[in-house]
Amino acid sequence: MTIWTPHLEGRKGPLYLAVADALAEDVGSGALGSGTRLPTHRDLANRLGVTVGTVSRAYGEARRRGLVTGEVGRGTFVRGRSGSGEALRLTVIGEDQPVPYDFGLNLPATGDGDQWLARTLATLGAEGGLSSLMDYQPDVGIRRHRETAARWISRTGLTAPAKRVAVCNGAQHGMSITLMALTRPGDVVLTEELTYPGLRELAGFLQLRLVGVAMDGDGLRPDAFEEACRDNQAKTLYCMPTLQNPIATIMSENRRQEVVDIARRHDITIIEDDVYGFLPADRPPPLAAMAPEISYFITSLSKSLAPGLRVGYVVAPDGMARRLGAVTRSLCRMATPLAAEIASRWIEDGSADHMARWQRKEARTRQQIARRALTGVSCITHPDSFHMWIPLPEPWRAGEFTSHLQNRGVVVIPADAFMVGRNKPLHAVRVCLGPISSHQRLEKGLSIIAESLNQSPRPNISVI
Ligand SMILES: Cc1ncc(COP(=O)(O)O)c(C=O)c1O
Repeated sequence: MTIWTPHLEGRKGPLYLAVADALAEDVGSGALGSGTRLPTHRDLANRLGVTVGTVSRAYGEARRRGLVTGEVGRGTFVRGRSGSGEALRLTVIGEDQPVPYDFGLNLPATGDGDQWLARTLATLGAEGGLSSLMDYQPDVGIRRHRETAARWISRTGLTAPAKRVAVCNGAQHGMSITLMALTRPGDVVLTEELTYPGLRELAGFLQLRLVGVAMDGDGLRPDAFEEACRDNQAKTLYCMPTLQNPIATIMSENRRQEVVDIARRHDITIIEDDVYGFLPADRPPPLAAMAPEISYFITSLSKSLAPGLRVGYVVAPDGMARRLGAVTRSLCRMATPLAAEIASRWIEDGSADHMARWQRKEARTRQQIARRALTGVSCITHPDSFHMWIPLPEPWRAGEFTSHLQNRGVVVIPADAFMVGRNKPLHAVRVCLGPISSHQRLEKGLSIIAESLNQSPRPNISVI
């Protein structure tokens, strides 16, 4: 076992994150080689003068970033080297590929959700009466969960009775059941010309044809939307009016009214994705509040509380939640009751508010850091958003820029991932501010992006 002591001087923020960051740096620099056994929790806690719990959280965070592995009774071991001197994190969900500065996934920042979870699980265990959560439940969710969801959703400006709510396993599941309920293979679905990649993937599986609708700084352009309705015999629109992914626009109330009017005129059903709707301090009402009879409103707790909780909600037009329940039943019988119970308790006891408020504040802080680190860089974003869109200056192309950054240990997502159709190449990248663990590292990673924008691509001489 190594006598490893983390260098904590000058590190700000929670102690456990400081220890995890120090560990990441030592792994990256090679000071801690692959396979090295780390001090026991108690030993390191004694040497640092902190609690064993703090070291356990630090090692837990390091495990989450893919830095260490551990087995109860065997100890904690360093997993591998980044070779860059920086902390590591998984690039792509499920891939064991460490990346120093990962701006790729649109994750919330890491808060203290694990503490809330530990407390709630302990309470649930102590209370007894868990057996109903281990049983089959109604396909749209337990009545109490739907009522709590309706209360939570009412903060967006959408008031709907619980009978219109279907509980689901996250927004992606909500999108799946809604599209499966509304469409058939070959149907056209209209969406913003830059859209959430999860929709593109889903449309592929469901054999739907996505048609992109041009946008401006206020979101979907009414003239383009109307034309697309006319030209494509479409019946469905999927859109993200509040903090659009990837360009973070918030559609104004007037524009929302125009979109709703056009949808009504052309008999279009709206699927409104509001997963980022909790972030802005001030936001216009959802489309679903303006046109409840033609709208499916989808949200989840993935961005406000925790993506791994897998809890989301769909508010359907009156009488249509049952149809969503039927689709859920055919896929997975019901959303996971235990996860929905945890979410309901957090909503009821105010923990959810606390966590969402923390994410909101963190998004603003991270935007300020970004503004500092990217001085002079033109970005499209919103001060309440976790994501930003960077149009690339000449001569960069999105693919070249992404590879250039990857060689410097930075992951961003090129415009292609969001594009619907093949109209024109777009030279831009999406940068997500949430996933990086500390403000220091966020600033460092962003400064690499800023520096790279001022450099030129190197031609690939291996191509002849
Ligand atoms: C716009 C949008 N919708 C839906 C989702 C999926 O969310 P969930 O984790 O709740 O399935 C995401 C995730 O990034 C997203 O950005």
